[in-house]
Amino acid sequence: MTDEARWWQRTTIYQVYPRSFADSDGDGIGDLRGVIDRLPVLAELGVGTVWLSPFFASPQEDFGYDISDYTAVAPEYGDVETVRELIEVAHGLGLRVVFDLVMNHTSDQHPWFVESASSRDNPKADWYLWHDGRGRPGRDGRTRRPNNWKAPLDLTSAWQWSPVRRQWFLASFLPFQPDLNWRNPEVREAVFGAARQWLGMGVDGFRLDVFGWIMKDEAFRSNPFRPKLGGGDIVRLWRRDFTENTPDNVRLAKDLRAVVDEFAPPERVLIGEVFGSPDEVHEYLGDDDGLSLTFAFDLLEYRYSARYFRDLIARYEANYAAPRLPAYVLENHDRSRTIDRVGGDEGKARLLATMLLTLRGVPTIYQGQEIATSNTYLPLAGALDPMGRTFLPWMPEWVSRRIAERINRDEVRTPMQWDASRNAGFSTAERTWLPVNPEYPRRNVAAQREDPDSTWRLFQTLIGLRRALPELHDGTLRLLDAGRDVVAYERAHVADDGTIARVVVVLNFGAAPLTWAQAGEVLVASGPGVASTATTTTVPASTGVVLRPV
Ligand code: NOJ
Repeated sequence: MTDEARWWQRTTIYQVYPRSFADSDGDGIGDLRGVIDRLPVLAELGVGTVWLSPFFASPQEDFGYDISDYTAVAPEYGDVETVRELIEVAHGLGLRVVFDLVMNHTSDQHPWFVESASSRDNPKADWYLWHDGRGRPGRDGRTRRPNNWKAPLDLTSAWQWSPVRRQWFLASFLPFQPDLNWRNPEVREAVFGAARQWLGMGVDGFRLDVFGWIMKDEAFRSNPFRPKLGGGDIVRLWRRDFTENTPDNVRLAKDLRAVVDEFAPPERVLIGEVFGSPDEVHEYLGDDDGLSLTFAFDLLEYRYSARYFRDLIARYEANYAAPRLPAYVLENHDRSRTIDRVGGDEGKARLLATMLLTLRGVPTIYQGQEIATSNTYLPLAGALDPMGRTFLPWMPEWVSRRIAERINRDEVRTPMQWDASRNAGFSTAERTWLPVNPEYPRRNVAAQREDPDSTWRLFQTLIGLRRALPELHDGTLRLLDAGRDVVAYERAHVADDGTIARVVVVLNFGAAPLTWAQAGEVLVASGPGVASTATTTTVPASTGVVLRPV
């Protein structure tokens, strides 16, 4: 394991969704022993960091993002000793390990909330965001909600009524995930204490769940009504001035940094799930005293066009000047698989992988992305994902079929496709917790490891190149002038002795072959047919190439 101080700037992150990664005990649910068993394959793929989605004690209504004990492990996944072993085995293989820290909310079954909800004057009465309503109580005793703050999708209020306290509590995500009151010092110490437990055990950092939402406006002001069309996947009706990315929240990043810095070296990484434009969210990095990285989520909302990506890269470059880095991400456990976004065209998915792994930034890969797994269509009606169940249970099937991919996150959480055996080698159970994607006999890790032209091998080659070449893991990025359908950039690095190393990445988003006016050694090509003459390089349609210019 390399112990260089800023290891995380050069790493490639691989996201494991433990429930769907590997099931070692045949109960149809993935577990931590399953992850341990498969770590060597991740080391072989070449990634540097494994981020595990939550495996803590939880009623699993939001599959672990609803925690009922931050310091314990859900029994179906293992126990604290298994976690210790996982960290040790990972470190032995040269891998770093990042856990998911869910600070905004707990489960409503967390003993803290059960106590808090029991009366207005219990010792934890102020641990969550309780508020009196407005106006006179109605016949059922309810007052009007304190303000207009909304749950995701803007369809319902974020306030939930408690008949016991005759007050409202805030649940910014789903009704069973009450928001903690981070202005209460006891809450901070309790959650920071849990973080310290895992840091002390050797975890290399945290991915921070909905970090942007934690510190809401102290005066509980309503958000301004301002519909926003376009941009993201989902239309927003209200701005989130008083609930997201507030100045107090930016300060919280620094407090958390101070906690993890107690445990350096090696430096621990903090990766924020924060939404917003790059010129807003880069604030979280502070003066190198806040979060280490923030995910560049625009890439989850992309349009497949060269212009879109050129503009996006330019915006991130402008706001994340070195030594800052964006954390680029194309897939995760919440959003559509890449291949479904590009009409099932694996060539296009491979081009995007080439971009992801050669940009100046920290790339994140979601399990299955390395074999171009597709979404598994599952109707909203039978969804296990609480998003679909909570917000859209009435959705008719003909609508659901069109939008399920955006709402029902089950579709991107089906079991990992390891091989062509039963249940894709994920589990020996009769039934797995979610069905296996039917494409698995053709699309699985074992088959792709054997095939030199497979997407798994492309990822392995690109990750290997990124590790090997300082221009890729440490160099500058300069966008190059290119045609309408092309994204091209140069990555350059000046060595201590003054020698400059350069590579050029050319991504042809167009439908026609491109003649690029530069020759070079082809280090990687995402598809067949790339050829260099003495002065030019031919890049076929939907193909990316990494060139060492001559
Ligand atoms: C974001 C996570 O990625 C998602 O899976 C989860 O449901 C919400 N945060 C709530 O914790």
